[in-house]
Amino acid sequence: MFSKPGLIIKSDPAALALAAADIFVSAAGECTARHGRFTVAVSGGSTPRQMHRVLAQEPFSSGMDWPNTHVFWVDERCVPYGSPASNYGAASEDLFQKISVATGRIYPMPTDLPPEGGAATYDAQLRSFFRSSQGAFPAFDLIFLGIGPDGHTASLFPGQPTLEERDRWVIAVRGGNPDVPRLTMTLPVLNHARRVVFLVAGREKAAVVKTVLDNDGTGLPAERVRPVEGILTWLVDQDAASLLPKETLHDAP
Ligand code: 6PG
Repeated sequence: MFSKPGLIIKSDPAALALAAADIFVSAAGECTARHGRFTVAVSGGSTPRQMHRVLAQEPFSSGMDWPNTHVFWVDERCVPYGSPASNYGAASEDLFQKISVATGRIYPMPTDLPPEGGAATYDAQLRSFFRSSQGAFPAFDLIFLGIGPDGHTASLFPGQPTLEERDRWVIAVRGGNPDVPRLTMTLPVLNHARRVVFLVAGREKAAVVKTVLDNDGTGLPAERVRPVEGILTWLVDQDAASLLPKETLHDAP
């Protein structure tokens, strides 16, 4: 049963990044203590980059149980990892090149294959990792998502048939900015996570944040992220929350 999302509003992008890093490290500690590993999937774009940079610094870097942490990507642009458009390349520059983490636990999406092949390869890699039986979906401990002003999330774009995918875990798509071939996790994967956190900053997102949180059945991709059993949290800065009802505009703990 989908429960109402939690809303945390932070004063600015720096406070947002700190709060996101805190969620990341806290979830890692809880999950590794409880079941010996932490599985997280991160999105691309600019918003998560500040969180990644914060995770590379104290006290977060030494507070992380990296040996038992497995990092996956929600989506990726089919460009070389060295391209400025690469989600893995950005996270590697901001975080993984700065900490000593076994590369064997960092799982970038393959962008050196034709998109359909890359999607099938990552799909198979996930099924092998989660040892999932036929028909089930993986239960990531934590998935970070962003949102575009058009309401897209991951690389699931409004009006595309990819929103109706119910079997595959990873698919090849085209769209977004940059408009390039992409790989993306599908909605069922996102909705089977134990926790999903939308990270949103900036006044240019205020309208879409209000639209999605009004939850009026617009059918936008971000509005269709409704975890089946997991926890959904919207972690936004005050600019992105600026069109929400006044009583919600406070710097939540
Ligand atoms: C991508 C992202 C995408 C992103 C949103 C928000 O690869 O483009 O996964 O879904 O999260 O477009 O991007 P910003 O954080 O740059 O606003």
